[in-house]
Amino acid sequence: MIQVHIGHTICRIVEQEQERETTTEITCTHAIIKFNITLSSIDFFFHRYLCTCQSFICKNLHKIIKFLTYVRAFRVQPNDTFFQKTRRETMTNFYKAVPISDHVFWVGAIDWNSRDFHGYTTRRGTTYNAYLIMADKITLIDTVRIPFKAEMLSRIASVTEPKDIEIMVSNHSEMDHSGSLQDLMALVQPNAVYASAMGAKTLGKIFHTEKGITPLKDGDSIHLGNMTLAFLETRMLHWPDSMFAYLKEKKLLFSHDAFGMHLATSERFADEIDRTILDYEGATYYANILLPYSPLVLKLMEKVTNLHYEFDMIAPDHGPIWRKNIDKVFENYRAWALQKPTKKAVIVYSTMWHSTELMARAISEGLAEGGASVRFLSLEHNHRSDVAYEILDAGALIVGSPTLNNNLFPATADVLTYLKGLRPRNLIGAAFGSYGWSGESVRQLRDILNDMKVEIVGEDITAQHVPDSDVLTQCFALGVRIAGMLAERAE
Ligand code: FEO
Repeated sequence: MIQVHIGHTICRIVEQEQERETTTEITCTHAIIKFNITLSSIDFFFHRYLCTCQSFICKNLHKIIKFLTYVRAFRVQPNDTFFQKTRRETMTNFYKAVPISDHVFWVGAIDWNSRDFHGYTTRRGTTYNAYLIMADKITLIDTVRIPFKAEMLSRIASVTEPKDIEIMVSNHSEMDHSGSLQDLMALVQPNAVYASAMGAKTLGKIFHTEKGITPLKDGDSIHLGNMTLAFLETRMLHWPDSMFAYLKEKKLLFSHDAFGMHLATSERFADEIDRTILDYEGATYYANILLPYSPLVLKLMEKVTNLHYEFDMIAPDHGPIWRKNIDKVFENYRAWALQKPTKKAVIVYSTMWHSTELMARAISEGLAEGGASVRFLSLEHNHRSDVAYEILDAGALIVGSPTLNNNLFPATADVLTYLKGLRPRNLIGAAFGSYGWSGESVRQLRDILNDMKVEIVGEDITAQHVPDSDVLTQCFALGVRIAGMLAERAE
């Protein structure tokens, strides 16, 4: 049992460990309130059980719970001051900051188990990168998702007292980077917190207050004493708030999500990691996060070039830090943003009784016969984010679906909704599918492809129940024709 003295009131806390959860009871004047508390986050559903007695404890319960969260996260006794204890605990803690440049440290978190990032499958996990600049005015760039707050604080505390941070910068308001910001502001009480103008507004909507956030304009700089941070708005890459921060003296670009990837590794630098993995995860990240904004990426690359900045290092908010081959990183972004037509064709299909699959196979053979490079993606075996990756450098998107209850098969509808949002460009394509009696799916596929501005090649191909040799011959011929068009467009 823990007793916490709050004002003149004693808050009695009884905790019971059960598997990975702890049930905590708080006794106020008139009621016992039970809620679940995990290592670093709490279940606010306890509000439903709030006593209405208006005692000090009830009225301040929210603050008490928050306090308890910190206590638990750092395994300290509640009568110790938070910062003293944080510092002491982390002296023996295994979460350390990693120096990435003179006076600059990585203080983020590694999420080895992340497998889904708002619909994008992240098979190799991810990192949430935050950076500490040990300038005259100690500055923190971005934070981490809330469950990883303690890890970040521990890494910070291995370099300096968290309360010594004077400036915080939010390059991007999405919660994987701003999740811990509000708590950190309360703990550290920095002199200033900066975001872009849109960032300040977005954080205001997330935190329900803009208090304490100073908006910056494109081109503004802030002086950290012996160093300077210059800011560059990168609107809609990929949120309206996004901005770059450039540490002039170190030629170091803090690039938020841009140039990042979902990849959890023990290595912090890209040049320590297998190039094939970097190429695959970098392209997958671009395809699933930045693809819709490709025209803006091209404009940004031009703007950055015109600034004549030099880059010794790019420190994104996910995945490894780039300190070698930076030109290649920019080149990749230019190529992905341009989406020049290639000879690659992607067939995406779902199937109920293998009829649509037979058609897909015939198209695939025709494509190969015509010299195209084929990616054959059954939606039973491939995730929507795999399809996005393959589309990034493709010239054709050919989609098949059976009709189910007068509609598209759900897996096809899912992937097309996702792809439509990603707005791939410069694609030709076609629709095909089998049906039992009504056959609406292929018309629906065509409508969606038209909405996506995919140039449709030939007529829709349908088969009732099982495709016969005539239908399969049509499919093969469609493949040959598309391959021919791809060869012309790729020249
Ligand atoms: Fe990594 Fe857009 O958040």
